Amino acid sequence: MSTHDAPGAAGPGERAAVLCGIGAALPETVVSNADLTARLDTTDEWIRSRTGITQRRIAGTDLTTEDLAVRAATQALARPSSVPVQALVLATTTPDRCCPATAPAVAARLGLTGIPAFDLAAGCTGFLYALAAAAGLIAAATAQAVLVIGADRLAALPAPDDRTTVPLFGDGAGSVVLRRGTAAESGTLGPVLLGSDGTHAELIRAQRPGVLRMEGAEVFRHAVDRMSAASRQAAAAAGWALDDFDHLVPHQANARIAGFTARQLGIPDDRQLHNVEHVGNTGAASIPLLLAQAAADGRIKPGHRLLLTAFGAGLTWGATTLTWPDLNP
Ligand code: COA
Repeated sequence: MSTHDAPGAAGPGERAAVLCGIGAALPETVVSNADLTARLDTTDEWIRSRTGITQRRIAGTDLTTEDLAVRAATQALARPSSVPVQALVLATTTPDRCCPATAPAVAARLGLTGIPAFDLAAGCTGFLYALAAAAGLIAAATAQAVLVIGADRLAALPAPDDRTTVPLFGDGAGSVVLRRGTAAESGTLGPVLLGSDGTHAELIRAQRPGVLRMEGAEVFRHAVDRMSAASRQAAAAAGWALDDFDHLVPHQANARIAGFTARQLGIPDDRQLHNVEHVGNTGAASIPLLLAQAAADGRIKPGHRLLLTAFGAGLTWGATTLTWPDLNP
């Protein structure tokens, strides 16, 4: 037994990453489409028909990315099925400052001072990149369990008067705990497919908050193509057919992108999870937030097979598979 092997832990070679905790956090402030029409040249009908979004949650200046991350992580760690963690990965495009990273401060507030903790920036695909990094930390025997957080304040990125981008984004955080386990367990993460294409970096770019530039139609096309291709690859790598999945869990950029992606995969609407209508595009928080809400309201049940996929600035994209565990054993 190595020094990292606790009694009863999986043996050497059995270093699958198994989801055992989940949490989410949203700011209290709700901004509806009607609120936006009062200050932007837009309509509720335009926003809903183009994006599916009816409202989003917005953090005030007193609620930081760090705060949102701490709230979501606290919930994830408090699950009865959760375990103590020895590493933390925070996916965010909107850290509270350039330097130092936000993750060590989050770890400190959670009482986890001393563990490895780092930020990871991969746009709205950040959570899937963070899952892969966490699975790698477990496989490398750096940690028996890893806290993964996606937290973003994307609503701060658009110029306040830009009607083409302001309606799209919201703020939030989601978190999961991954622990070392065996491939046969419920909650085991499948192969994580990731990619990037920096030749299209100009399509979504923000040098600093308040100056986001986006080529919406081009982004739309790339998002659908990349998420459907990555989903096929992740399913194949896991040995699952697309018909085997109970739910597609697409990054909640907007309802039309998710709908086109599902259609390309031949997955009907009733097997596609969504919450973009209530929260907008929350970036790296999007997938764990959706998982947390869908598990809480019963749309996801233990044993359900999930296909997760995301796309974001970079460009970046990814997909993976997951069988939903029982988090209240
Ligand atoms: N209200 C009313 N009109 C608006 C508007 C708004 N909020 N935003 C843009 N328009 C106008 C444009 O000015 C344009 O007018 P014009 O034809 O007179 O020039 C018209 O609507 C069409 O604009 P366009 O940008 O071509 O619309 P679209 O159908 O491509 O929809 C998006 C725009 C942003 C909804 C769509 O491109 C999209 O969803 N892109 C992906 C964005 C995204 O999710 N990014 C994050 C990925 S992680």
